[in-house]
Amino acid sequence: MQDKINQYISEINAFTPASSEELETYRIKFLGTKGIIKDLFDEFKTVSAEEKRVLGKVLNEFKKLAEEKHQSYKEQFESGAELTSSTFDLTLPGEGFEIGSRHPLSLVRKEIIEIFKKLGFNVAEGPEIEDDWHNFSALNFPEEHPARDMQDTFFIKKDAENGDIALRTHTSSVQVRMMENGKPPFRAIMPGRVYRNEAISARAHCFFHQVEGLYVDENVSFADLKQTLFYFVQELYGEGTKVRFRPSYFPFTEPSAEMDISCSICKGSGCQMCKGSGWVEILGCGMVDPNVLENCGIDSSKYTGFAFGMGIERITNLKYQIKDLRLFSENDIRFLKQFQSEIL
Ligand code: PHE
Repeated sequence: MQDKINQYISEINAFTPASSEELETYRIKFLGTKGIIKDLFDEFKTVSAEEKRVLGKVLNEFKKLAEEKHQSYKEQFESGAELTSSTFDLTLPGEGFEIGSRHPLSLVRKEIIEIFKKLGFNVAEGPEIEDDWHNFSALNFPEEHPARDMQDTFFIKKDAENGDIALRTHTSSVQVRMMENGKPPFRAIMPGRVYRNEAISARAHCFFHQVEGLYVDENVSFADLKQTLFYFVQELYGEGTKVRFRPSYFPFTEPSAEMDISCSICKGSGCQMCKGSGWVEILGCGMVDPNVLENCGIDSSKYTGFAFGMGIERITNLKYQIKDLRLFSENDIRFLKQFQSEIL
């Protein structure tokens, strides 16, 4: 009897059911009402008392082993986990995973950069934490002058002697760094994040993104500025988009202007986006003030230049008709999912 049991033990140890049907066959064979274990217990009744002492323990352990094996596979099959190689079907299709999409601001920034690259503009970057000189003073904002209030500033350190440290309010600071560190001609755009101390609403945020541009060389005129921006708008919004320039004021440009385009949504006939006027403002621009050139060590009697600056959010709003600025920074997947990247 002991030999028989040993044989069954090795049989059970070697057994790996590939399906619940195989497991059921095993159960009937060993644990069923007419199964091997039942037979062994019947046989046990017939052996001598001496043998019973030894065999009783062996038989009980064998029964336990058979039951445990059954139980563990039963749980496995019930939970749907099929671990054996014979049930792993390599021909089943894999599970697809979703690919993310580009943020709309990244898409539009890239588009703007591509257009200016075609005109020979480089891309320049600078720090987001700036000193007073690069963000204000070099750009012809006199100290204590109300023009500084045009841009509500987040100050990091107030230091009357060495100059304040602040989060940059525009990427014009990058233009200053560029002119200080190089020699004309300069032809570059400066994309980047800027910060202003404004209450967050559908129309304003405490940070946004800009692309500013600078062109400094001999004989650069307002006509060059108009032609460059006209080309840009035709590329971005399509041929036939009209532009108009309105006189404006910036401390660092003279003369200064704001540029409107014919509304890209209603094509000028008047809609909600352009508040019925047919025109929308998209950027500020002007001829670089000679004071700024001199502050950066450039001879203003020899060189002239133009500069412009636009908010990427504004351009994106017009392109995709987005009415609430907050959507750009809330990371709502339902919003972000809608922008399929044409340019990767
Ligand atoms: N720096 C200006 C702003 O942030 C934009 C601008 C740039 C205007 C260059 C004119 C020329 O509002």
